Amino acid sequence: MDYENMLSDRVKLIKPSGIRKFFDLASQMEGVISLGVGEPDFTTPWAIREAAIYSIEKGRTFYTANRGLLELRKEICNYYKKRFQVSYHPEKECIVTVGGSEGIDIAIRSIINPGDEMIVLDPGYVAYAPGVELAGGVPVAINLRHEDQFKLTPDLLKAAITPKTKAILLNYPSNPTGGFMTKEDYEKIVPILKETGIIILSDEIYAEISYEEEFCSIASFDEIKDQVIIVSGFSKAHAMTGWRLGYILSNSVLSSAMCKIHQYVIMSAPSPAQYGAIEGLRHCQEEVMKMRDSYRTRRNFLVKTFNDMGLETFKPLGAFYVFPCIQSTGLSSDEFCEKLLEDQKVACVPGTAFGPAGEGFIRVSYAYSIEELKIATEKIKIFVDKMKSR
Ligand SMILES: Cc1ncc(COP(=O)(O)O)c(C=O)c1O
Repeated sequence: MDYENMLSDRVKLIKPSGIRKFFDLASQMEGVISLGVGEPDFTTPWAIREAAIYSIEKGRTFYTANRGLLELRKEICNYYKKRFQVSYHPEKECIVTVGGSEGIDIAIRSIINPGDEMIVLDPGYVAYAPGVELAGGVPVAINLRHEDQFKLTPDLLKAAITPKTKAILLNYPSNPTGGFMTKEDYEKIVPILKETGIIILSDEIYAEISYEEEFCSIASFDEIKDQVIIVSGFSKAHAMTGWRLGYILSNSVLSSAMCKIHQYVIMSAPSPAQYGAIEGLRHCQEEVMKMRDSYRTRRNFLVKTFNDMGLETFKPLGAFYVFPCIQSTGLSSDEFCEKLLEDQKVACVPGTAFGPAGEGFIRVSYAYSIEELKIATEKIKIFVDKMKSR
């Protein structure tokens, strides 16, 4: 039987993640130091783990409400209000999801009809364009520019909008670039978004990992708040990747539509994780800030180290990635990462894994200890010197 032929056209259309492809290569080698994974190296704060364990001990092992425990939704809404000055109703405007990943998927599926265009930023997180394609939509890429520090500018936005544009997907602080939009940056694009009335899917999963500047949620602009769907979660700020817990906030019409998909496909997010997250939002802000401070120290180290070795690297204001420009080595992003792996056994991700506009860059995650970063960058320097002296 030719099972390839049995696959749906949409699944055939999407390509496997460029990150995975690269890590399959790395996993076949011994002694590799990886700076590739976007996953906190911290263990989940103990208070969260304890609350989840306690919930299991008490036998709270059932499905929760489809939208998630009301107690948790109240905490999420309180948190967004207190921290980012945006209000949502816990009963009608919040859904607890299986990671930000589910939130992205059901948000796209609830708004995209076949042929609708959805703007995605390039370089951008690997799940966005395939998510749009799986929904039958057409991802339209905006090529962000290094000289703008990968911010979305009004000229780029205007040029991408067509009569078929249904929505735009934003992600600041950004994976993979570390790019950041301040309130002033948003002020320049908000009038365009308001005028066109398109939906704004804002992936704010790195909000707490913001350094010099205050994080600004695009939903805090009252004039477009109703157009915004916020996706966020506990994976990054609370170091809870394996717990699979996220949430979406939006107006009640969009929220009900997303909840329809969620109730059939997921039913409800894992209940121990939900009990843990309540504790996380109530009592773990100090630990979240400590982790953020540690990421900042590592960022400072990497930005200096890469610039010193001649790879131009701007200082990202958020998330835990740097995005050095490797053009001076004369290698493409793919060649750089493959040769670096072969030569020095250090794994980074080619910028092209995040879209064609990532050519000329590599993504380096600093969700690793400073000791590991020191060893890895010494090896990268040896490799870069070798390439430059060819
Ligand atoms: C920008 C961005 N959004 C969403 C996700 C998915 O996170 P989650 O673990 O909450 O599904 C990631 C994970 O790397 C990410 O980088």
